[in-house]
Amino acid sequence: MQIFGLDIGGSGIKGAPVDLDKGDLAQERHKVLTPHPATPDGVADGVREVVEHFGWTGPVGLTFPGVVTGGSTIRTAANVDKSWVDTDARALFSERLGGHPVTVVNDADAAGVAEMHFGAGRDRKGTVILLTFGTGIGSALFVDGALVPNTELGHLELHGHDAEKRASSKAREDEELTWEHWAHRVRKYLAHVEMLFSPELFIIGGGVSRKAQKFLPYIEGVKAEIVPAQLQNNAGIVGAAMHAADTAR
Ligand code: BGC
Repeated sequence: MQIFGLDIGGSGIKGAPVDLDKGDLAQERHKVLTPHPATPDGVADGVREVVEHFGWTGPVGLTFPGVVTGGSTIRTAANVDKSWVDTDARALFSERLGGHPVTVVNDADAAGVAEMHFGAGRDRKGTVILLTFGTGIGSALFVDGALVPNTELGHLELHGHDAEKRASSKAREDEELTWEHWAHRVRKYLAHVEMLFSPELFIIGGGVSRKAQKFLPYIEGVKAEIVPAQLQNNAGIVGAAMHAADTAR
């Protein structure tokens, strides 16, 4: 079965039909840049452009880079325009896509669900935490495979700062940090999350998962196993489609 998965990020809006049996993209993904400011209206236009690129008319699962409650209402918007807060995202996207059924889920939660099912978290019991390092830091917390949604561990305070402002992938780029310097910040962040949750496994997702060998060797002193995400940057798209399929069931 195929469902369209679409991942809304701080820099890009990307999507593709997803093969739910394989947990992989059924076609090469299409990406448009996230508009700035990333308002509901501008983002919804980008979403329509990506979906129309494939001529897709079926159900669409979307991710959003903020807290999503009740499968629809946006509660936070750290890296997109603040006018998203309290927006009924499901109604907005459904209307913009000409009435297709849509579902909306937090981006890191979607990536986590995909990794637990098809990737690095497969068959893993106990406490598993997926962290995505991108424009912000997203988190997905699993206990024996069950998701605790909207955990927002990227906003933990670390040395008086919002953790994602110091340790996201964007912080590395903006401050032109070496991989070693950035890894030092990530190590402190992981140690803090470990102190709070004692997970068995950390899965590192986001674009940096492709470059794990550049920073994982510098991360020492964390007891939990640390592995890169296997679906890499497609985890959000696959998870968005999985969420849509689960919701329809
Ligand atoms: C948001 C999270 C999101 C993460 C990654 C954070 O700023 O608060 O909801 O998962 O960025 O996009």
